[in-house]
Amino acid sequence: MCGIVGYLGPNPAFPILIEGLQRLEYRGYDSAGIATLEEGCLLRVEKKKGKVVDLTNHIGEHAPTGTIGIGHTRWATHGPPNDVNSHPHLGGQGKIALIHNGIIENYEAIKELLTHRGHKLVSDTDTEVLAHFIEEVRISSGLDLPDAVRVALKEVVGAYAIVVLDQDHPDRLIAARKSSPLVIGVGSNNEFYVGSDATPIVAYTKNVVYLEDEEVATMHRSGELKIRTIGDVVITPEIHAIEMEIASLEKGGYEHFMLKEIFEQPRSIQDSIRGRVRLQTGEIHMSGIDDHWDVWNKAGRILIIGCGTSWHAGLVAEYLFESLARIPVEVEYASEFRYRNPIIRPDDVVIAISQSGETADTLAAIRLAKEQGAHVFGVCNVVGSSIARETHAGAYTHAGPEIGVASTKAFTAQVAVLSTMAIHLGHKLGRLEDKAFMRLISGLSNVPGLVDRVLSKAEPLLHVATVFASADNALYLGRGYQFPVALEGALKLKEISYIHAEGYPAAEMKHGPIALIDQDMPVIFIATHDEVYDKVVSNIQEVKARGGRIFSIVTEGDKKVRALSDHVFEVPKIHEALAPLLTAIPMQLLSYHIALLRGCNVDQPRNLAKSVTVE
Ligand code: G6P
Repeated sequence: MCGIVGYLGPNPAFPILIEGLQRLEYRGYDSAGIATLEEGCLLRVEKKKGKVVDLTNHIGEHAPTGTIGIGHTRWATHGPPNDVNSHPHLGGQGKIALIHNGIIENYEAIKELLTHRGHKLVSDTDTEVLAHFIEEVRISSGLDLPDAVRVALKEVVGAYAIVVLDQDHPDRLIAARKSSPLVIGVGSNNEFYVGSDATPIVAYTKNVVYLEDEEVATMHRSGELKIRTIGDVVITPEIHAIEMEIASLEKGGYEHFMLKEIFEQPRSIQDSIRGRVRLQTGEIHMSGIDDHWDVWNKAGRILIIGCGTSWHAGLVAEYLFESLARIPVEVEYASEFRYRNPIIRPDDVVIAISQSGETADTLAAIRLAKEQGAHVFGVCNVVGSSIARETHAGAYTHAGPEIGVASTKAFTAQVAVLSTMAIHLGHKLGRLEDKAFMRLISGLSNVPGLVDRVLSKAEPLLHVATVFASADNALYLGRGYQFPVALEGALKLKEISYIHAEGYPAAEMKHGPIALIDQDMPVIFIATHDEVYDKVVSNIQEVKARGGRIFSIVTEGDKKVRALSDHVFEVPKIHEALAPLLTAIPMQLLSYHIALLRGCNVDQPRNLAKSVTVE
């Protein structure tokens, strides 16, 4: 949600800022803007509604040449997407330029104060208020800018990651954060890079400092990096090495990131279980569980929290943990959990699932659970993210950077990690016998190969997509382990093709959605061979009797469902607990093809952002 980039060093900032914004565009694409300090310390601001490409077209051949600058790609919160509301915003005297990710909750009160003092604000944004406020504090107190930023931020309620450029000091850049992520890259040549995450930085340096909440960093052209808290405590910067490879941020010959990420799944699933599932010795090792065995051994209940696709992975985990480890599970949207005064018992373990590790609601729910004494386990993809750092223990999903806004490989990697956890816990707690355990870990080890097989024969999905592309609605139905996959399938279709889609437990269809079924309604069934197969077959018959157009995901060799369906897609036979890892794939590809046929922007669907760092 809003991408932030900054550069200070010997090279022209503009190309670095633009490339950084392109990498961060998944965080929002309502508008883009940059500010640089040009020769003679002239502050140059360029901003434009639309994508980064609209900004570069607007700038044309007259690119800025300054060696210090900031850039922003916006996901609008306060004020519609237009040129004026785009970042950077200037302070009242036009001497500082500021970019911001987050929400200033008390901006109206600050705005009133500023208006009294004669400030004239031109945009609808909370960010402009902050820029004016910092400048007001600097002028009225006579403080140097880093101190003025500190003092001003003490008055701010809300979330922020900001970078400030100062016309009077072309040799330094100031950055601060609270509840929104900010990473500082430390280059070898007295260079600094700033990013909402490491993606705009990794091409230049692998050494990063993760700014913590309420810290203000001052980067200087001399190579000096000073960090202080807003309460004026000096912090020694801790440099971490990031492992990300630049190739993982490119499309690698695919037309879209989403397609690349779908096809990466054999590898990303393999990476998510690598080193954990050891088939030869018949063991699972998960340090996040093993090193905290006292907690897991007495876990009376697991509470799972997440948002969007991560919440769907949590629902799959509910089936997994209850059936394989016999631990009661509750799954909740992080946004609801945090506001309903939840009861957390001493023997509860909380699992927080998040691809980005930065989702504001999930982070807030984690903090609440920790306050109430819960042990919190994080399942995150982004290494070094806030959630990864704030949880007591965890397991990275190791899916690699996911750029497409609609989550694909991150979902299957989450499900793979959660499956590994459930199998491990079941066995370690003595609730899963050796034979069943071995069957499951051998099944899990086969998943990457089977996903590869699904992908290699996915061509027919294009035909199904052609048939369904003109639909206005779609219904996704599944039972048991496949119910969350139905929800995820419907979400994928909504997100990228803008077709209204609902996921439902197949049996619940009779209690409402069946009224929607007619010859125009595509109904997508997940009807693989499992315990509830025959029940699902009955549900398919109910839809067929009402003329619905049926597309079913079935197990290889299936005859019954094939006879009832207009179209089928086969996935290999696998243990039912692991089947979501296969059935999710055709769901993703179907949505992808439908969205393309409808001319939608697959990687950057309207209104969405990949990392939702506001409530
Ligand atoms: C956004 C993204 C979704 C994602 C959700 C949760 O809505 O568009 O793809 O599932 O946030 O994000 P997280 O990073 O916490 O998994």
